[in-house]
Amino acid sequence: MTQPTTAQYYTDLPAAELIAQIDRLKQEKNAVILAHNYQIPEIQDLADFTGDSLGLSVEASKTDADLIVFCGVHFMAESAKILSPGKMVLLPHLGAGCSLADSITPESLDDWKQDYPDHTVVTYVNSTAEVKAESDICCTSANAVSVVRSLDNDKVLFTPDRNLGRWVAEQVPEKEVVIYDGACPTHDVLRAASVERTRDEFPEAVIIAHPECRQDVVEIAHEVCSTTGMLKAVEKYPDAKSFIIATENGMLHQLKARFPHQEFMAADGCIGCRLHCPYMKMTGLQDVYFSLLEQRFAIELDDEVIEGARRSLERMMAVPRDD
Ligand code: 13P
Repeated sequence: MTQPTTAQYYTDLPAAELIAQIDRLKQEKNAVILAHNYQIPEIQDLADFTGDSLGLSVEASKTDADLIVFCGVHFMAESAKILSPGKMVLLPHLGAGCSLADSITPESLDDWKQDYPDHTVVTYVNSTAEVKAESDICCTSANAVSVVRSLDNDKVLFTPDRNLGRWVAEQVPEKEVVIYDGACPTHDVLRAASVERTRDEFPEAVIIAHPECRQDVVEIAHEVCSTTGMLKAVEKYPDAKSFIIATENGMLHQLKARFPHQEFMAADGCIGCRLHCPYMKMTGLQDVYFSLLEQRFAIELDDEVIEGARRSLERMMAVPRDD
């Protein structure tokens, strides 16, 4: 195997050799590779663990590796750092951000909190570490309903995703849930009319939607759940031939791999166009390779931010999953 120099930022090593080098570096550095269900197939296949935001947080908090290479987006790698502050956490591609997380800043949360001093702040993990540190508790799409139900307070501020917030408020009508006006552009773009057009071709298909989808989409879905929840949901329909999946199209890879005898379609009827998060697709094999080789890009957070954000994340992790 050729040993590239550290000055290189590009290598023309073929994929198979890159994977072999990644494996070697992983052993050498006692690293673990975590990947979100939306990553490109090569990265999902390479990872030691692939999952949803909650599963990845749990995995990051209990790993005994020295180095965590996080193939996802920035806020996810931050959560891993918050939960394992003594470890080095690397985000292989610095451009892998999240528009939803960027839609709320500590300042805008602070302003909002002033108007609702008696409310408990529930923050979706798709947020920065600083925003988590200013929140009372976090949630993911896998436990948002249980998190809100678990609160003693009946008044809740839910941030930043308005679609998830609305879904939670519907499930927990006994609480007053005030919702921030943020959304994930990848999910928010999907309309029921597009899903129905896909369903016209497969009238028997089971529709599974992520709660970041708009209300019209969620209303026609048979199941609404997190990305890993989708894998569990499929198991409930052993006789179903086809499924329409309303979330980022990376999810299709896990579903097809786990259930090879069933058919999975992107809800917009068009793999790779609308249900496509450009940030989730930024990380390639080369990025993971250079990340391990040069220990880049390390997540750094202030101790005070880690402490505050960790409190919110740990409270969340004490609540069981919805699914
Ligand atoms: P999950 O936690 O369901 O995987 O969702 C993560 C996400 O970022 C959705 O846009």
